[in-house]
Amino acid sequence: MSNLNALIEALPKAELHLHLEGSLEPEQLMEFAARNGVDIPFKTLEEVRAAYEFSNLQDFLDIYYQGMSVLQTEADFHDLTDAYLQRVAADNVRHVEVFFDPQGHTDRGIPFDVPIKGILRALDAAEAKYGITYRLIMCFLRHLSEEDAFETWEQAQPWLSKIHGIGLDSSENGHPPSKFTRIYEAARKAGLKLVAHAGEEGPPSYVYEALDDLKIDRIDHGNRSLEDDALVARIKEAGLTLTVCPLSNLSLCVVDDLKDHPMKRMLELGLKATINSDDPAYFGGYMNENYRQTAEAVGLTREEIITIAKNGFTGSFLSPEEQARHLAEIDRIASAH
Ligand code: HPA
Ligand code: ZN
Repeated sequence: MSNLNALIEALPKAELHLHLEGSLEPEQLMEFAARNGVDIPFKTLEEVRAAYEFSNLQDFLDIYYQGMSVLQTEADFHDLTDAYLQRVAADNVRHVEVFFDPQGHTDRGIPFDVPIKGILRALDAAEAKYGITYRLIMCFLRHLSEEDAFETWEQAQPWLSKIHGIGLDSSENGHPPSKFTRIYEAARKAGLKLVAHAGEEGPPSYVYEALDDLKIDRIDHGNRSLEDDALVARIKEAGLTLTVCPLSNLSLCVVDDLKDHPMKRMLELGLKATINSDDPAYFGGYMNENYRQTAEAVGLTREEIITIAKNGFTGSFLSPEEQARHLAEIDRIASAH
């Protein structure tokens, strides 16, 4: 194993951009379909895998929502979340801030309480079981209406002490952040953290809207910010973290080749970029695989890899004391490598 790969494996990491429904591996999809009697258009694992070829975000989302249909019971959501935690524990991930898409479930008749109960049961056990702490972020589907989002917000009220933040995902083009200004205002008043997908496929103006209208604390993806120097300067000045997802960007053709990925450029520009897996079951790799392939493709240095791992904790919603504990551990591990 190369020295850099050994370092990547050994470093404590935080994952800040992960859709739990996107961690549904083909094996588990087939298992849940069978145990719940859900019809899926695939007979074999090979057929499922063959469907995981995407040319853009919408292509992926169509399969992602179809895959979700096998998630029916609290046990399904628990098992899905637990399997994700077990996998990232093996990657030395120590903290996760994970998304879930309640509307992807309530829209097909699954009550709001079903996914969140199963997810929280797995997350609440994770510290004792895997040494992993968590924050839970509820995403709104941006292709749905503001009214739909407010309905979901109402359903979430009894759970707000267990929901740390809100996010915005799904089809970006044609659904600018400004559509959700009032939902973000309500969540801000309730004391929640605010993140939003912006600048994955959408233009820099969507990132400006996420900053100005939604007043977000962190940017999910943000790649296209690099097209606008003033925007880069603003993100840097505000010290905002970008949750970047290299293998997702490759799968969804946000970049044509991983060698063209802007991760290194983001760091050189002084942006707080992190590496995350987004929807690892669909995009070909969990945390360490994202680190490894990116490091190799764009030539990350040892120092840059350490910086990215540190950015994961400083960009998290952990307390300063908790962040400091993880940063000290990174320094300890790095000095041994
Ligand atoms: N972008 C937008 N919506 C999503 C994604 C993504 O990468 N993953 C799951 N929903
Ligand atoms: Zn995402």
